[in-house]
Amino acid sequence: MTLVGVPMGTLRSDRPILALLAAEIERMRAAGVPVGEDELRGLYIPDAEADRLLGEETEDTAEERVAALSAACGLSGLEEGIVRLCLAAETRPGIERLIAYAQDDVSRRRPRVELALRLLADDPLAALGAFDEQMPLRRHRLVELLDDPGQPATPLPSKTLVLDDRVLRFLLGGDGIDAAIAAWTRLHPAPGPLHAATPEVDLVARHPATVLTPPVVALWGPDPGRIRDTALYIASASSLGCLVEFDATRAREGTAGADDALARAGREAALQHGALLVTGVDALEAAARDQLIAAAERSAAPLTLLASEAEAAFPGPLLHVPGLDYESRLELWNESLSDMESDAGADEIAALAGKFRLGKDAITAAVRTAHGRAVARDPGRPSIGRQDLYAGARAQSAPILGTLASKIAPHYVWDDIVLENDPLEQLREFCGMIEHRHLVYDTWGFDRKLAMGKGVIALFAGQSGTGKTMAADVIAGQLGLELYKIDLSGVVSKYIGETEKNIGAIFRDAESSNAILFFDEADALFGKRSEVRDAHDRYANIETAYLLQRMEEYSGAVILSTNLKMNLDEAFLRRMHFVIDFPMPEEPYRLRIWKSTIPPELPLDPGIDLGFLARQFKISGGNIRNIVLAAAFLAAEDGGPMGMRHLIRATRREFQKLGRMVTEAEFGDHIAYLR
Ligand SMILES: Nc1ncnc2c1ncn2[C@@H]1O[C@H](COP(=O)(O)OP(=O)(O)OP(=O)(O)O)[C@@H](O)[C@H]1O
Ligand SMILES: [Mg+2]
Repeated sequence: MTLVGVPMGTLRSDRPILALLAAEIERMRAAGVPVGEDELRGLYIPDAEADRLLGEETEDTAEERVAALSAACGLSGLEEGIVRLCLAAETRPGIERLIAYAQDDVSRRRPRVELALRLLADDPLAALGAFDEQMPLRRHRLVELLDDPGQPATPLPSKTLVLDDRVLRFLLGGDGIDAAIAAWTRLHPAPGPLHAATPEVDLVARHPATVLTPPVVALWGPDPGRIRDTALYIASASSLGCLVEFDATRAREGTAGADDALARAGREAALQHGALLVTGVDALEAAARDQLIAAAERSAAPLTLLASEAEAAFPGPLLHVPGLDYESRLELWNESLSDMESDAGADEIAALAGKFRLGKDAITAAVRTAHGRAVARDPGRPSIGRQDLYAGARAQSAPILGTLASKIAPHYVWDDIVLENDPLEQLREFCGMIEHRHLVYDTWGFDRKLAMGKGVIALFAGQSGTGKTMAADVIAGQLGLELYKIDLSGVVSKYIGETEKNIGAIFRDAESSNAILFFDEADALFGKRSEVRDAHDRYANIETAYLLQRMEEYSGAVILSTNLKMNLDEAFLRRMHFVIDFPMPEEPYRLRIWKSTIPPELPLDPGIDLGFLARQFKISGGNIRNIVLAAAFLAAEDGGPMGMRHLIRATRREFQKLGRMVTEAEFGDHIAYLR
C-alpha cells in the first residue's frame, strides 16, 4: 500500500490534507475496517462531507507562512506535511470529525503520530525518525507530543500531535515574540550603519552568515551595548531584519531550562528572519556554558552571535569588539546634547566622555536623565548643568554586585585631608592622570604606541588610620566618579575558579561607570608571590595574576591599600603607576588634624589645649577622629561644652583599645581628669 506524499507549493495548505483524509477514509471503508459508525454518523457519507469541505473556497493566508516556516527550519516534505496536518486540525472546521473517524476514536480530534504517518509517509515506520530530538520538528520545538491521559508512557505512534503555541500563532499571521521566553528575550529592529566598525567586523559582516556552518560568531569586548550594536550591524549586513537578544543567565532561572529556551529563541529568530544574540554566557558554569553553546549551534537561527566579555574559546570566528573610544563617545555626547539647552562647557563634556565608558544607548539615556533633572528643577526653562550630566551618566552604569563591593558616598574634599606635601602632590598627580588619560592615550595616540591598558593603578601604603580611605574618597568626589570598596575576604574563595569569577564580575560591572575600585587590605591577595606555602597559596598566585591582568585591562582607576608594604614583591610594585606612602602624622600635622576634626557647631570649653594633645600623643588621624567623637559623646552626657576632661578621658580609652601603654606623666597636668 502506497500513500501519497503531500505535493508542496502548488496547493493550499489544508486542501491536500483534506484530500488525503478523505481518501484514507474511503480506503478504510472499502477495506471493511469496522470504524465507529454510530458515534460518527455524520461521516457515514464521507464523500459528501469531504466534497463539501473540499469545495469550500477559504481565504488561506497560512500558505505563505507555512512556506516561510518550512524554509526557516529546513523542513522536509514529510515534516511540512505534518505541520500542515496539525494546522488544519486546529483551524479547519469539520476536519476534527474526519480525524476522529480515521483514528476510529471519537474522543481523538487531534491527529496522532500514527495517523500523520499513515496519511503522509510512504514508509510510516521509517518516518518515525522525523520525531527524533535531533530532527527539526522536535529540535526547533515546532510540535509537541502529548501522552494519552490514560497512558503515562504512551508509545510514540499513539502520542497526540499538537502545534506549539507560538508556531500556530506564526502560521496564523502573528508576529509577537514567543510568550514562553519573553521575559529574557528582546527584539531589536535592525539599525543603520555602525559607528567605527573594526575591519574584522566588517569582513564578517560582508560575508553572508550562511557561509558559516553552523552560523555562529562570538563577539567579545567590554561594552555590552557596543556588542549589541555590532551584532545588529552584522545582522543587517547579512540581510537579516532584526536581532533577537536572549539572556542565557536569566533564562536559566526559568522553569523550562536554558536549552529549551534557547531553542525557542533560535526559532523566534528564524521566524522573525533575524539574528540571535546570546548574552549572559560568561556567568554560566563551564558545563552549562558548553551545553548552551552546543544548543546555539543546533538552533534554527540563521545567524547566532555569542556575546562575551572575555576572549574565551568559542566555536567559529571570534571577533573583538572594543568599547567606543573617547572620540566617538565625545561625538555622541555632543550629538545628544545638540538640541538641548545646556550650560555645561565643552571641557566639561570632554571630561564626561573621558570618565564614563558608556555605550551609545547609555549616553542617550544619560542625557535624557539629565534633561529630566533639569525639567524637575525648572520646568519653564530647563537647562542641563554639570551635576545633571554626572547624575545621568552615573545612573547608566551598572551597580557593582552588592555582596562583593560596597559603594562609598563621597564625603571629603581636599581641604579635609591633612598630609605632607609629597603624598599630597602625588595624590593630585594620580587624580590628574585619571582625568587626562583619554587625552594622552586616545588623542595623543599612546594607546597604540604602548601595548598596555589605559587604567591607572595606585598603591596606598600606610598604617591604619593615616587617611588612605579618606584620600580615595577625596579623589572620587573631585572627579565625580563612583567609589567602590571591595571586600577581599568576600572575593577570595577556597573554591578553584570562584575567585576569578568574582573578580571578573566586579570589573565587568565597574567598566561602564569607570568607578574607582578600592581594594582594602590588598596584601591578603598580594602576599609575596614567589613564596608558596600551602596549596591555597598556589591558587592565590593564579588569582593574583588574574587580578593583575584585569587591573591592567581595566580602563578606570584601581587603588590598592595596604598596611604592610614590606610584603609586596617587586614585580608587583613595578605594575603600580603610583606608590603613595601615608606617613604617621608629625606634630604640626596632628595639630591640624585635631583642629579639622572638630566640627564648628560643637560647643567648646575655652580651656581646650589641642597643642598639648598634638604634641603629647603620637597617633594617627584615625585615632584623633575616634577620640574627638568619643569626647563629644562624653560632653553630651555631661550636658555641656566639650572640654579637656572629655578629650583626656577619651584619649585614654583609645590607647586602651590599641593596647598601648601611656604613662601618667604623659598626661601632664591633665592627669587629674583621670582620677
Ligand atoms: N591625613 C588625615 N587628615 C585628616 N583626617 C584624617 C587623616 N587620616 C585619617 N583621618 C581621619 O581618620 C579617619 C579614618 O581614616 P582612614 O579610614 O582614611 O584611614 P585608613 O588609612 O584607610 O586606615 P585603614 O588602613 O585602617 O583602613 C578619616 O575618616 C578621618 O576622619
Ligand atoms: Mg581604610
